[in-house]
Amino acid sequence: MTTAPVAEHRLPLAGRHIALGVTGSIAAFKAADLASKLRQAGATVEVVMTPAATQFVTPLTFQSLTGRDVVVDMFSAREAEAHIEVARRADALVIAPATADCLANLATGQTPDMVTLTALATRAPVLVAPAMDNQMWEHPATQANVATLRGRGVTLVGPNPGRLATGRVGAGRLAEVPEVLGALRTVLGKLHGDLAGRRVVVSAGGTQEPLDPVRYVGNRSTGKMGFAIAEAARDRGAEVTIVAGPVALETPFGIARVDVGTVAQMLAALETATAGSDALVMSAAPADFRPNDPAEHKLKKAPGEDSMHVHLAKNPDILASLPGGGVRVGFAAETQNLAANAVAKLASKRLDFIVGNDVTAAGSGFGTDTNQVTIFHAGGRIEELPLMTKYEVAHAIWDRVAERLRARE
Ligand code: CTP
Repeated sequence: MTTAPVAEHRLPLAGRHIALGVTGSIAAFKAADLASKLRQAGATVEVVMTPAATQFVTPLTFQSLTGRDVVVDMFSAREAEAHIEVARRADALVIAPATADCLANLATGQTPDMVTLTALATRAPVLVAPAMDNQMWEHPATQANVATLRGRGVTLVGPNPGRLATGRVGAGRLAEVPEVLGALRTVLGKLHGDLAGRRVVVSAGGTQEPLDPVRYVGNRSTGKMGFAIAEAARDRGAEVTIVAGPVALETPFGIARVDVGTVAQMLAALETATAGSDALVMSAAPADFRPNDPAEHKLKKAPGEDSMHVHLAKNPDILASLPGGGVRVGFAAETQNLAANAVAKLASKRLDFIVGNDVTAAGSGFGTDTNQVTIFHAGGRIEELPLMTKYEVAHAIWDRVAERLRARE
């Protein structure tokens, strides 16, 4: 099975001009991977370094990875012009890693090097990923600098807790590359996205309805589609809450996550989350039935017992029970009669549109990275979309939600 590559305009960092500032921390080597991932994501990357950073990684490393000159010395004749141009061209400046010294200079507006100079000269959003020893991070001087930077609208990502270069354990590790990329997509989304200022709610994954303390009734939903929907909304600037059943997925940067186990918990969490929301996309696969009377202790086999009867009680229909949520989108995962089933659910769940897919079709369904969906709109319009990545399907959904939001205004 082949899949078309993600359309260029759907890559959130494609065509963006990212200035990457690297300062003198041992974590500087991780900035090489960041530079590479930024370029793979379609961004143009221009690296500026402090002299201290070049002690850890050479400018040639970044030059090779980005295909562009790296600026270190702001006084060299060739680079004299370049130093302001990097700041002007940037859609965003990412400083990773940022040392304690760098944070202090940023807070006071001092420009002893190309990184801090670029930060002062640019009008683009600035994202800072600190990395240092935990005692330096926790020092009131550093914390005061961080508060100053946050107050000025700088986005901080990390530092994360864990093992530090000194061998100690504490807060001070550079944020991982996916987190930094997520933070950058969040910042750019808020600036340019068509969902900026909107609050949206997404549900994802299946539910687990307990049979006894160690067993449950559930389904095979992995939550991938829901998480892709949440990420795409964030990339378009929305404030996103994801209500997730038990799934093995990391929380993407910038997304508020509420974890739930059962349908009853999912309904309660969604009631709170959808109060005043602009849209609800219900991609979760809630279990329709739950064991009527879960056992207090682990169920044991009785001698000679060849079968077991479990009485299941019907769970509430979450969409039908929720009064509002804004633009309402549901899913219909079917194995037969897709159109008839989807259209019936569209009406009974009071949806603006429903995303139907045949989970038995190649490339669609549980655990895949792609999906081929048909969108059934209230009012009768039907759109059959091609096989796409789940992230592209997510954008197709938000395109239609955005359209409906605009139409309502
Ligand atoms: N849904 C819901 N509450 C439930 C079950 C489903 O809100 N208890 C939502 C799903 O998140 C999805 C839509 O309703 O957006 C359709 O889900 P689906 O499982 O296909 O439909 P059901 O209503 O459960 O109907 P059936 O299982 O009989 O096909």
